[in-house]
Amino acid sequence: MNGQAQIGVTGLAVMGRNLARNLARNGFVVAVHNRSPERTRRLVAEHGEEGRFVPTDSLADLVAALERPRAVITMVKAGAPTDAVIDELVPLLDAGDIVVDCGNAHFADTRRREEALRKQGLHFVGTGVSGGEEGALWGPSIMPGGSAESYQKLGPIFEQIAAQVDGEPCCRHIGPDGAGHFVKMVHNGIEYADMQLIAEAYDLLRVGLDATPAELAEIFQEWNSGELESYLIEITAEVLGHTDPSTGQAFVDIVLDQAEQKGTGRWTVQNALDLGVPITGIAEATFARSLSGHADQRAAIRRAFAGTGPTWQVEERADFIEDVRRALLASKIVAYAQGFDHIRAGSQEYDWDIDLGGTATIWRGGCIIRAHFLDQIRQAYDDQPDLPTLLVAPWFADAVRAGLSGWRRVVAEAAQAGVPTPAFASSLSYFDALRANRLPAALIQGLRDNFGAHTYRRIDRDGSFHTLWAGDRSEVEA
Ligand code: 6PG
Repeated sequence: MNGQAQIGVTGLAVMGRNLARNLARNGFVVAVHNRSPERTRRLVAEHGEEGRFVPTDSLADLVAALERPRAVITMVKAGAPTDAVIDELVPLLDAGDIVVDCGNAHFADTRRREEALRKQGLHFVGTGVSGGEEGALWGPSIMPGGSAESYQKLGPIFEQIAAQVDGEPCCRHIGPDGAGHFVKMVHNGIEYADMQLIAEAYDLLRVGLDATPAELAEIFQEWNSGELESYLIEITAEVLGHTDPSTGQAFVDIVLDQAEQKGTGRWTVQNALDLGVPITGIAEATFARSLSGHADQRAAIRRAFAGTGPTWQVEERADFIEDVRRALLASKIVAYAQGFDHIRAGSQEYDWDIDLGGTATIWRGGCIIRAHFLDQIRQAYDDQPDLPTLLVAPWFADAVRAGLSGWRRVVAEAAQAGVPTPAFASSLSYFDALRANRLPAALIQGLRDNFGAHTYRRIDRDGSFHTLWAGDRSEVEA
């Protein structure tokens, strides 16, 4: 089968293996390789009948098995392992060949690698893949960056193996060099916010209603048939309804309450700081995970403030549940608005020309944040590509308007009761700050000018000014 495989995959841990199986099941001839050949043999032994695999024992054999231009997917750990595979692969390739990195790489690494390979006449395609193990096998959301030329070869393959929604593939060319991995990074930032908001909604309902996880599972299940319909709400009902087999307790009660992270949420926040995009909800969600891991501090505070835990007695249960649902929807809209602002800023900064409506389109299926309302996001950006913020698009503005009083009640009552709602509260503050007629930023400018002569601008005249604070307090033009 030398020279006949349409695509190669190296790195056959669960994601690479499932992607290879997906490709084979969809009729592509797939050359497969893994550093330890045992995994390659096992894949072919266990799943060989699913399609046409070409097992290979070395990267040289993998390359030899491919038709031209060659396309090799690497599915190895982000960072040094990815560089190691690329270094080994590049001397085996010819001009026009394509290296596709489907791992969760940092987009800056992808830009660096793309530039290096481009200089050698090769295409490097950083590709975001979302959907976890099942998605990789049955249809992920795929976000390829890299050159338009490379997409001519990869597009038809990826679009076929991706999730399909209303007859459209959840894959499109995102933009040059690191654009695909950037969009995947922001996807994960939104994922962090979405999960934190769901967790806060669960906590509020649990304390406010004094309900069991199984009862709460039913509420989430019901929510999943309305505006909140999404994969994460669906699996929340599943996790809350699960009983720990060894203790018979609710599963959620036996899990240590310290959330971990591999780092994509942190990257999102770091980059947003650099670009000056206020993705406050995503940042709160990321910090909430790290706060949960500070077990010693949490224990110290619990000891020092013993007996002051949350006390809350909700009277009107149905009204409260509806308030939390609306608060969750409004906060979630803020998270997506911030994420799409971030993508727009990245696209401008790095010159990528990313289509926001198109990005929403390919997140409608396959990925972790797939949700009913992505159709509305697509619509909003298709109708008005220069939308200043998702919050003013009609469907979203209506949802926020309808939920605003409930959102405020939930955040205020949670603060009274002592239930932490960092993401709900910061999303509401973000909204209130954006709609404020005047912000106290004016005072900050005054203080900066006072202690550091940093100057300020005026509302009534152009130019920069400084007040002689230590002198006669007259104003001079800076
Ligand atoms: C996806 C997921 C996937 C992975 C995250 C989780 O889109 O399929 O986002 O990429 O589950 O990396 O990351 P944390 O470990 O940081 O939560």
